[in-house]
Amino acid sequence: MLATILGERQERPPIWIMRQAGRYLPEYREVRANTKNFLELCYTPELATEVTLQPLRRFDLDAAILFSDILVIPDALGQSVRFEQGEGPVLEALSPNSVAQLRPEGALEHLAPVLETVRRLRAALAPEKTLIGFCGSPWTVATYMIGGRGSPDQALARIFALEHPKAFAALMDILIATSIDYLVAQFEAGADAVQLFESWALNLDDIAFADRVIEPNRRIVAGVRARVPNAPIIGFPRGAAGNLAKYAALTGVNVLGLDYATPLDFAAKHLPATLPVQGNLDPLRLVAGGSQLDERIDQIIAAFADRPHIFNLGHGIVPQTPIAHVARLVERVKNG
Ligand code: CP3
Repeated sequence: MLATILGERQERPPIWIMRQAGRYLPEYREVRANTKNFLELCYTPELATEVTLQPLRRFDLDAAILFSDILVIPDALGQSVRFEQGEGPVLEALSPNSVAQLRPEGALEHLAPVLETVRRLRAALAPEKTLIGFCGSPWTVATYMIGGRGSPDQALARIFALEHPKAFAALMDILIATSIDYLVAQFEAGADAVQLFESWALNLDDIAFADRVIEPNRRIVAGVRARVPNAPIIGFPRGAAGNLAKYAALTGVNVLGLDYATPLDFAAKHLPATLPVQGNLDPLRLVAGGSQLDERIDQIIAAFADRPHIFNLGHGIVPQTPIAHVARLVERVKNG
Protein backbone atom coordinates (compact mmCIF):
# COMPACT_ATOMS: atom_id res chain seq x y z
CA MET A 1 0.00 0.00 0.00
CA LEU A 2 2.66 2.50 1.03
CA ALA A 3 4.78 1.68 -2.04
CA THR A 4 1.71 2.26 -4.21
CA ILE A 5 1.03 5.61 -2.54
CA LEU A 6 4.64 6.51 -3.31
CA GLY A 7 4.17 5.67 -6.97
CA GLU A 8 4.95 1.98 -7.50
CA ARG A 9 2.48 -0.04 -9.59
CA GLN A 10 1.52 -3.46 -8.20
CA GLU A 11 0.44 -6.67 -9.96
CA ARG A 12 -2.82 -6.56 -7.93
CA PRO A 13 -3.98 -3.32 -6.33
CA PRO A 14 -3.87 -3.00 -2.54
CA ILE A 15 -7.27 -2.29 -0.95
CA TRP A 16 -8.88 -0.41 1.91
CA ILE A 17 -12.44 0.86 2.23
CA MET A 18 -13.54 4.36 3.17
CA ARG A 19 -15.47 4.16 6.46
CA GLN A 20 -14.36 0.52 6.80
CA ALA A 21 -15.01 0.70 10.55
CA GLY A 22 -18.68 1.39 11.09
CA ARG A 23 -22.28 0.43 11.35
CA TYR A 24 -22.34 -2.39 8.75
CA LEU A 25 -20.32 -4.42 11.31
CA PRO A 26 -22.27 -5.91 14.26
CA GLU A 27 -19.14 -5.76 16.45
CA TYR A 28 -18.99 -1.98 15.79
CA ARG A 29 -22.65 -1.52 16.66
CA GLU A 30 -22.05 -3.38 19.90
CA VAL A 31 -19.17 -1.10 20.98
CA ARG A 32 -21.16 1.94 19.86
CA ALA A 33 -24.24 0.86 21.86
CA ASN A 34 -22.12 0.94 25.02
CA THR A 35 -20.81 4.50 24.52
CA LYS A 36 -22.65 7.65 25.59
CA ASN A 37 -22.21 9.32 22.25
CA PHE A 38 -20.17 9.15 19.07
CA LEU A 39 -17.52 11.70 20.12
CA GLU A 40 -16.86 9.75 23.30
CA LEU A 41 -16.02 6.77 21.09
CA CYS A 42 -13.60 8.97 19.08
CA TYR A 43 -11.91 10.23 22.29
CA THR A 44 -11.53 6.87 24.08
CA PRO A 45 -8.27 5.36 22.74
CA GLU A 46 -9.06 1.85 23.90
CA LEU A 47 -12.41 1.78 22.08
CA ALA A 48 -11.27 3.74 19.02
CA THR A 49 -8.33 1.32 18.64
CA GLU A 50 -10.67 -1.65 18.92
CA VAL A 51 -13.13 -0.44 16.27
CA THR A 52 -10.29 0.58 13.93
CA LEU A 53 -8.97 -3.00 14.04
CA GLN A 54 -12.35 -4.74 13.68
CA PRO A 55 -12.53 -4.70 9.85
CA LEU A 56 -8.96 -6.02 9.57
CA ARG A 57 -9.88 -9.06 11.64
CA ARG A 58 -12.62 -9.97 9.16
CA PHE A 59 -11.04 -8.97 5.85
CA ASP A 60 -7.55 -9.04 4.34
CA LEU A 61 -7.37 -5.24 4.02
CA ASP A 62 -3.99 -3.59 3.43
CA ALA A 63 -4.59 -0.55 5.60
CA ALA A 64 -6.27 0.53 8.80
CA ILE A 65 -7.80 4.01 8.97
CA LEU A 66 -7.75 5.77 12.30
CA PHE A 67 -11.22 5.78 13.82
CA SER A 68 -12.22 9.37 14.43
CA ASP A 69 -14.21 11.99 12.53
CA ILE A 70 -13.53 15.11 10.51
CA LEU A 71 -15.63 17.11 13.01
CA VAL A 72 -13.25 16.58 15.95
CA ILE A 73 -11.48 19.72 14.68
CA PRO A 74 -14.44 22.09 15.19
CA ASP A 75 -15.00 20.37 18.54
CA ALA A 76 -11.34 20.94 19.45
CA LEU A 77 -11.64 24.61 18.41
CA GLY A 78 -14.41 25.05 20.97
CA GLN A 79 -17.47 24.96 18.72
CA SER A 80 -20.35 22.86 20.04
CA VAL A 81 -20.60 19.59 18.04
CA ARG A 82 -23.16 16.83 18.70
CA PHE A 83 -23.99 13.67 16.77
CA GLU A 84 -27.74 13.07 16.87
CA GLN A 85 -29.00 9.54 16.36
CA GLY A 86 -30.39 9.24 12.84
CA GLU A 87 -29.74 12.92 12.11
CA GLY A 88 -25.99 13.20 11.65
CA PRO A 89 -23.84 15.97 13.09
CA VAL A 90 -25.36 19.13 14.56
CA LEU A 91 -23.10 22.12 15.28
CA GLU A 92 -23.81 25.52 16.76
CA ALA A 93 -23.58 27.42 13.46
CA LEU A 94 -20.80 30.02 13.21
CA SER A 95 -21.63 33.66 12.58
CA PRO A 96 -19.05 36.03 11.05
CA ASN A 97 -18.40 37.42 14.55
CA SER A 98 -17.97 34.07 16.26
CA VAL A 99 -14.99 33.06 14.08
CA ALA A 100 -12.78 35.20 16.35
CA GLN A 101 -13.96 33.17 19.34
CA LEU A 102 -12.56 29.88 18.05
CA ARG A 103 -9.66 28.68 20.20
CA PRO A 104 -6.86 27.20 18.05
CA GLU A 105 -4.34 27.33 20.97
CA GLY A 106 -5.96 24.45 22.81
CA ALA A 107 -6.90 22.33 19.81
CA LEU A 108 -4.00 19.86 19.72
CA GLU A 109 -4.26 19.18 23.44
CA HIS A 110 -7.98 18.45 23.03
CA LEU A 111 -7.06 15.95 20.29
CA ALA A 112 -4.46 14.16 22.44
CA PRO A 113 -6.70 11.07 22.89
CA VAL A 114 -6.91 10.66 19.09
CA LEU A 115 -3.11 10.83 18.86
CA GLU A 116 -2.89 8.21 21.62
CA THR A 117 -5.15 6.00 19.46
CA VAL A 118 -2.67 6.41 16.58
CA ARG A 119 0.20 5.28 18.84
CA ARG A 120 -1.75 2.24 20.04
CA LEU A 121 -2.71 1.33 16.49
CA ARG A 122 0.85 1.44 15.17
CA ALA A 123 1.92 -0.79 18.06
CA ALA A 124 -0.94 -3.24 17.45
CA LEU A 125 -0.76 -3.45 13.65
CA ALA A 126 1.48 -5.82 11.72
CA PRO A 127 4.31 -3.84 10.08
CA GLU A 128 3.02 -4.55 6.56
CA LYS A 129 -0.36 -2.93 7.32
CA THR A 130 -0.43 0.76 6.46
CA LEU A 131 -1.90 3.08 9.09
CA ILE A 132 -3.83 5.92 7.50
CA GLY A 133 -4.54 9.08 9.47
CA PHE A 134 -6.83 11.80 8.19
CA CYS A 135 -8.54 15.12 8.60
CA GLY A 136 -11.33 16.90 6.80
CA SER A 137 -10.21 19.48 4.27
CA PRO A 138 -10.89 23.07 5.36
CA TRP A 139 -13.78 23.82 2.99
CA THR A 140 -15.61 20.60 3.86
CA VAL A 141 -15.18 21.19 7.60
CA ALA A 142 -16.22 24.84 7.14
CA THR A 143 -19.47 23.79 5.43
CA TYR A 144 -20.48 21.99 8.64
CA MET A 145 -19.19 24.78 10.91
CA ILE A 146 -21.11 27.46 9.02
CA GLY A 147 -24.21 25.47 8.08
CA GLY A 148 -24.52 23.75 11.44
CA ARG A 149 -25.26 20.43 9.71
CA GLY A 150 -24.85 18.62 6.43
CA SER A 151 -26.81 20.00 3.48
CA PRO A 152 -27.19 18.92 -0.14
CA ASP A 153 -25.94 22.22 -1.62
CA GLN A 154 -23.79 23.82 1.16
CA ALA A 155 -25.70 27.05 0.40
CA LEU A 156 -25.14 28.69 3.81
CA ALA A 157 -21.37 28.26 3.61
CA ARG A 158 -21.22 29.32 -0.05
CA ILE A 159 -23.11 32.53 0.73
CA PHE A 160 -21.03 33.17 3.89
CA ALA A 161 -17.78 32.87 1.89
CA LEU A 162 -19.02 35.50 -0.60
CA GLU A 163 -20.71 37.89 1.83
CA HIS A 164 -18.09 37.76 4.59
CA PRO A 165 -14.76 37.20 2.81
CA LYS A 166 -12.65 38.40 5.77
CA ALA A 167 -14.33 36.19 8.36
CA PHE A 168 -14.24 33.30 5.89
CA ALA A 169 -10.51 33.77 5.21
CA ALA A 170 -9.86 33.92 8.96
CA LEU A 171 -11.79 30.67 9.43
CA MET A 172 -9.87 28.97 6.61
CA ASP A 173 -6.54 30.15 8.09
CA ILE A 174 -7.48 28.63 11.46
CA LEU A 175 -8.55 25.34 9.84
CA ILE A 176 -5.41 25.14 7.70
CA ALA A 177 -3.04 25.80 10.62
CA THR A 178 -4.88 23.40 12.94
CA SER A 179 -5.03 20.69 10.27
CA ILE A 180 -1.28 20.95 9.62
CA ASP A 181 -0.49 20.63 13.35
CA TYR A 182 -2.93 17.73 13.69
CA LEU A 183 -1.61 15.80 10.68
CA VAL A 184 2.03 16.34 11.68
CA ALA A 185 1.12 15.02 15.15
CA GLN A 186 -0.54 11.98 13.54
CA PHE A 187 2.65 11.25 11.57
CA GLU A 188 4.74 11.67 14.72
CA ALA A 189 2.40 9.26 16.55
CA GLY A 190 2.90 6.60 13.86
CA ALA A 191 0.61 7.24 10.89
CA ASP A 192 2.22 6.06 7.62
CA ALA A 193 0.07 8.22 5.34
CA VAL A 194 -2.86 10.61 5.68
CA GLN A 195 -5.96 11.31 3.64
CA LEU A 196 -7.52 14.74 3.15
CA PHE A 197 -11.31 14.25 2.95
CA GLU A 198 -12.75 17.00 0.76
CA SER A 199 -16.23 15.49 0.70
CA TRP A 200 -17.86 18.66 -0.60
CA ALA A 201 -15.63 19.53 -3.55
CA LEU A 202 -18.79 19.74 -5.63
CA ASN A 203 -21.16 22.69 -6.17
CA LEU A 204 -18.31 25.17 -6.64
CA ASP A 205 -17.54 27.34 -9.66
CA ASP A 206 -13.94 27.44 -10.85
CA ILE A 207 -13.02 30.55 -8.83
CA ALA A 208 -14.47 29.10 -5.63
CA PHE A 209 -12.83 25.73 -6.33
CA ALA A 210 -9.41 27.38 -6.70
CA ASP A 211 -9.80 29.51 -3.53
CA ARG A 212 -11.59 27.09 -1.23
CA VAL A 213 -10.35 23.67 -2.35
CA ILE A 214 -7.07 23.81 -4.27
CA GLU A 215 -5.26 26.56 -2.32
CA PRO A 216 -6.14 25.33 1.21
CA ASN A 217 -5.25 21.72 0.34
CA ARG A 218 -2.02 22.91 -1.29
CA ARG A 219 -1.14 24.86 1.86
CA ILE A 220 -1.80 21.81 4.04
CA VAL A 221 0.33 19.54 1.85
CA ALA A 222 3.19 22.07 1.83
CA GLY A 223 2.82 22.80 5.56
CA VAL A 224 2.88 19.13 6.55
CA ARG A 225 5.82 18.34 4.25
CA ALA A 226 7.82 21.26 5.66
CA ARG A 227 7.80 19.37 8.97
CA VAL A 228 7.49 15.74 7.77
CA PRO A 229 9.60 15.59 4.60
CA ASN A 230 7.95 13.62 1.78
CA ALA A 231 4.86 12.90 3.92
CA PRO A 232 2.62 10.53 1.90
CA ILE A 233 -0.74 12.23 1.33
CA ILE A 234 -3.93 11.04 -0.40
CA GLY A 235 -6.36 13.73 -1.56
CA PHE A 236 -10.03 12.88 -2.02
CA PRO A 237 -11.87 15.81 -3.59
CA ARG A 238 -15.33 14.25 -3.96
CA GLY A 239 -17.26 15.72 -6.86
CA ALA A 240 -14.29 17.65 -8.27
CA ALA A 241 -15.09 16.34 -11.77
CA GLY A 242 -13.61 18.77 -14.32
CA ASN A 243 -11.31 20.16 -11.61
CA LEU A 244 -9.65 16.82 -10.77
CA ALA A 245 -6.53 17.18 -12.91
CA LYS A 246 -5.88 20.70 -11.63
CA TYR A 247 -6.43 19.59 -8.04
CA ALA A 248 -3.84 16.82 -8.40
CA ALA A 249 -1.28 18.99 -10.17
CA LEU A 250 -1.55 22.03 -7.90
CA THR A 251 -2.00 20.50 -4.42
CA GLY A 252 0.92 18.06 -4.73
CA VAL A 253 -0.90 15.09 -3.17
CA ASN A 254 0.72 11.70 -3.86
CA VAL A 255 -2.56 9.97 -4.69
CA LEU A 256 -5.77 11.27 -6.25
CA GLY A 257 -8.93 9.72 -4.78
CA LEU A 258 -11.67 9.34 -7.41
CA ASP A 259 -15.36 9.32 -6.53
CA TYR A 260 -17.64 6.80 -8.24
CA ALA A 261 -19.06 9.34 -10.69
CA THR A 262 -15.60 9.77 -12.25
CA PRO A 263 -15.56 7.89 -15.58
CA LEU A 264 -13.00 5.09 -15.73
CA ASP A 265 -11.37 6.55 -18.83
CA PHE A 266 -10.84 9.91 -17.07
CA ALA A 267 -7.42 9.03 -15.68
CA ALA A 268 -6.09 7.82 -19.01
CA LYS A 269 -7.39 10.94 -20.76
CA HIS A 270 -6.57 13.64 -18.23
CA LEU A 271 -4.03 12.53 -15.59
CA PRO A 272 -0.24 12.04 -15.79
CA ALA A 273 0.54 8.38 -16.58
CA THR A 274 2.47 7.88 -13.33
CA LEU A 275 -0.01 9.57 -10.95
CA PRO A 276 -1.42 7.03 -8.44
CA VAL A 277 -5.21 6.92 -8.18
CA GLN A 278 -7.55 5.51 -5.56
CA GLY A 279 -11.11 4.28 -6.03
CA ASN A 280 -13.74 4.13 -7.23
CA LEU A 281 -16.49 1.52 -6.80
CA ASP A 282 -20.02 2.85 -6.19
CA PRO A 283 -20.84 1.82 -2.58
CA LEU A 284 -24.34 0.81 -3.68
CA ARG A 285 -22.89 -1.78 -6.07
CA LEU A 286 -21.42 -3.33 -2.92
CA VAL A 287 -24.88 -3.33 -1.32
CA ALA A 288 -26.51 -5.03 -4.33
CA GLY A 289 -23.73 -7.60 -4.93
CA GLY A 290 -23.92 -10.38 -7.52
CA SER A 291 -22.47 -10.42 -11.02
CA GLN A 292 -22.69 -6.64 -11.54
CA LEU A 293 -20.33 -6.25 -8.57
CA ASP A 294 -17.79 -8.74 -9.93
CA GLU A 295 -17.90 -7.15 -13.38
CA ARG A 296 -17.43 -3.63 -12.07
CA ILE A 297 -14.52 -4.66 -9.81
CA ASP A 298 -12.79 -6.19 -12.83
CA GLN A 299 -13.48 -3.11 -14.97
CA ILE A 300 -11.98 -0.78 -12.37
CA ILE A 301 -8.86 -2.91 -11.96
CA ALA A 302 -8.44 -3.13 -15.74
CA ALA A 303 -8.95 0.62 -16.23
CA PHE A 304 -6.13 1.49 -13.83
CA ALA A 305 -3.86 -1.49 -14.56
CA ASP A 306 -1.11 0.60 -16.14
CA ARG A 307 -0.61 2.99 -13.20
CA PRO A 308 -0.29 2.76 -9.40
CA HIS A 309 -3.83 2.05 -8.13
CA ILE A 310 -5.30 1.61 -4.68
CA PHE A 311 -8.66 -0.11 -4.79
CA ASN A 312 -11.36 1.60 -2.72
CA LEU A 313 -14.97 2.63 -2.92
CA GLY A 314 -15.80 5.96 -4.54
CA HIS A 315 -17.30 7.15 -1.21
CA GLY A 316 -17.90 5.63 2.24
CA ILE A 317 -19.40 2.17 2.75
CA VAL A 318 -23.06 2.40 3.83
CA PRO A 319 -24.60 0.73 6.91
CA GLN A 320 -26.86 -1.67 4.95
CA THR A 321 -23.89 -3.31 3.15
CA PRO A 322 -23.91 -7.12 3.56
CA ILE A 323 -20.68 -8.38 5.13
CA ALA A 324 -20.51 -11.24 2.63
CA HIS A 325 -20.30 -8.72 -0.21
CA VAL A 326 -17.34 -6.99 1.44
CA ALA A 327 -15.57 -10.34 1.81
CA ARG A 328 -16.29 -11.03 -1.87
CA LEU A 329 -14.88 -7.65 -2.90
CA VAL A 330 -11.62 -8.08 -1.00
CA GLU A 331 -11.16 -11.63 -2.28
CA ARG A 332 -11.76 -10.60 -5.89
CA VAL A 333 -9.44 -7.59 -5.74
CA LYS A 334 -6.67 -9.70 -4.20
CA ASN A 335 -7.01 -12.90 -6.15
CA GLY A 336 -9.07 -12.18 -9.26
O1 CP3 B 1 -13.57 3.86 9.08
C1 CP3 B 1 -13.29 5.04 8.79
O2 CP3 B 1 -13.33 5.49 7.64
C2 CP3 B 1 -12.74 5.95 9.88
C3 CP3 B 1 -13.67 6.76 10.55
C4 CP3 B 1 -14.41 7.91 9.89
C5 CP3 B 1 -15.70 8.33 10.34
N1 CP3 B 1 -16.01 9.48 9.69
C6 CP3 B 1 -16.49 7.64 11.36
C7 CP3 B 1 -17.93 7.93 11.49
C8 CP3 B 1 -14.01 8.81 8.89
C9 CP3 B 1 -12.76 8.81 8.03
C10 CP3 B 1 -15.04 9.81 8.80
C11 CP3 B 1 -14.95 10.96 7.88
C12 CP3 B 1 -16.10 11.87 7.76
N2 CP3 B 1 -16.97 12.28 8.74
C13 CP3 B 1 -16.44 12.56 6.58
C14 CP3 B 1 -15.68 12.48 5.27
C15 CP3 B 1 -15.98 11.25 4.51
C16 CP3 B 1 -17.34 11.22 3.88
O3 CP3 B 1 -18.09 10.29 4.19
O4 CP3 B 1 -17.62 12.09 3.04
C17 CP3 B 1 -17.56 13.34 6.85
C18 CP3 B 1 -18.30 14.25 5.86
C19 CP3 B 1 -17.89 13.17 8.23
C20 CP3 B 1 -18.95 13.84 9.01
C21 CP3 B 1 -19.91 12.89 9.55
N3 CP3 B 1 -19.65 11.99 10.56
C22 CP3 B 1 -21.26 12.72 9.16
C23 CP3 B 1 -21.94 13.51 8.05
C24 CP3 B 1 -21.78 11.72 9.95
C25 CP3 B 1 -23.20 11.27 9.97
C26 CP3 B 1 -23.56 10.48 8.77
C27 CP3 B 1 -23.33 9.05 9.03
O5 CP3 B 1 -22.69 8.39 8.20
O6 CP3 B 1 -23.83 8.62 10.08
C28 CP3 B 1 -20.76 11.23 10.80
C29 CP3 B 1 -20.86 10.16 11.80
C30 CP3 B 1 -19.87 9.03 11.70
N4 CP3 B 1 -18.53 9.17 11.46
C31 CP3 B 1 -20.17 7.66 11.92
C32 CP3 B 1 -18.95 6.96 11.78
C33 CP3 B 1 -18.72 5.49 11.94
C34 CP3 B 1 -21.52 7.08 12.27
C35 CP3 B 1 -21.94 7.54 13.63
C36 CP3 B 1 -22.34 6.41 14.59
O7 CP3 B 1 -21.71 5.34 14.60
O8 CP3 B 1 -23.24 6.66 15.37
